[in-house]
Amino acid sequence: MTLAHYRPPRPAPRNALMSLMRAALSGDGNLLGLLPGSAYHMDIGPLGWSRRTTMLVNRPDLARSVLIDPEGVFPKSDLMVNALEPLIGDSIFVSSGATWRRQREMVDPALTMMRVNRAFSAIEKSVGVCMETLARHAHDGASFSLDLAMSHLTADVICRTVFSTSLEHDASREVFDAFTLFERSVAQVEIRRLIMDKAWTKIAQRKDVLDACALIRSHLDDMLSNHIGAEGERYDDIARNIALARDIEGEGFTRAELIDQLGVLFLAGHETSASALTWVFFILAKQPEIVARIRAEVQSVAGDNAIAFEHIKRLSFTRNVFRETLRLYPPITFLPRVATQATKIGGRKIPRGALVIVAPWVLHRHQKYWREPDVFDPDRFAPERESEMTPGAYIPFGLGPRVCAGAAFATVEAVLIIADLVRRFDFHLAPDAQVQPAARLTTRPVQQIMCRVTQAKTQ
Ligand code: HEM
Repeated sequence: MTLAHYRPPRPAPRNALMSLMRAALSGDGNLLGLLPGSAYHMDIGPLGWSRRTTMLVNRPDLARSVLIDPEGVFPKSDLMVNALEPLIGDSIFVSSGATWRRQREMVDPALTMMRVNRAFSAIEKSVGVCMETLARHAHDGASFSLDLAMSHLTADVICRTVFSTSLEHDASREVFDAFTLFERSVAQVEIRRLIMDKAWTKIAQRKDVLDACALIRSHLDDMLSNHIGAEGERYDDIARNIALARDIEGEGFTRAELIDQLGVLFLAGHETSASALTWVFFILAKQPEIVARIRAEVQSVAGDNAIAFEHIKRLSFTRNVFRETLRLYPPITFLPRVATQATKIGGRKIPRGALVIVAPWVLHRHQKYWREPDVFDPDRFAPERESEMTPGAYIPFGLGPRVCAGAAFATVEAVLIIADLVRRFDFHLAPDAQVQPAARLTTRPVQQIMCRVTQAKTQ
């Protein structure tokens, strides 16, 4: 298959009623199944039939007004807040108004590009551990789960950069396992609930999900203990930074608030990157020409030396492969909001309590804004083609005040991982592998992707 025409898998669009029935009956929590074919060319319109209005806002300027939300009409959706509350409380990812503003001002300094530079050596260590594991797999010829390998890698990055510990530490491993259970059991939005319930209906979480959340929080609490007070002085990591953060009144986070924020960093910081990298290496296994271009770029920028922080911004094709993967498989598939008052969007009446959804998945494949929207083409992001881009049609990190706080972190991390792994290994999929995406907490393959690695041919 040529570079210009590779179309990675996506669910076949159905008509609206079929989509709704499939999504409701299958009970698989896959929100991608709810999207009718019309979603990929409409501006704004209802998403299926539900008791509360569910409006898909699909025109970049309208999506922008919802996400910037100067009047504070569209906070994070009650369904999502409810689902995440046992894990991350009223923390930066879900809070709103003055509570959110205070949290954002206190968390942002821990994730600036300067801090990412300081965290770079910790990220490098995680990549080194991953490469040792992959070298063993290459030697044994063993096949392994790509999803799980990427989740391990990005969770290890978060453990090292946030807490200066590794995933091999018992507590970190238990947090990881409990997160995996949480991720599998909790859907961002439960489809039957979405159809049946009124707005702001409280939904009790399953006991195993609550137990997993309690376990994660108690481990985060333990891991935080040595970061507070004089004992914490030996650390210069993200947890220490956030523990020392003060608001304009000079107040720091309480212990429970700290656990909430660190829970967000663990969840938002590893799950999303793992999702993106799983799709990157899936695509690379099918696209040897792109692998060759990444290798040539890495060689010209870093030669045979270790990739340094300063090299990252010069790895522009590698970054464009990451960007194009985020376009076709945005880890956060939907950005759901709730209308707290009756209002209008693009002339459409929106009742109080309506779910208002901006969907990176749909905007990124919208037929009006992208040439050959389903084709994987990293060169769309090359500077000479920038004029083709519609402002607001590409939003993998969100937009407006709630834009991802970790976007710089995630980009540096991903470019380093792609560059390092590609120069050492070739990835191979089973010839009969059936891969389809599903939108759960993040955009993941329906079934784990099994793969093998061999030492890169050019080495
Ligand atoms: C490829 C990786 C990532 C993607 C695609 C991603 C995407 C997003 C998106 C779309 C949002 C906004 C959600 C909304 O508006 O409803 C968000 C928020 C957030 N992300 Fe990321 N993220 C990534 C990695 C990270 C990392 C590595 C961190 C931290 C280390 C992080 C921390 C956060 C935080 C704290 C928020 C909440 C910001 C706020 O509401 O003020 N993310 N992310």
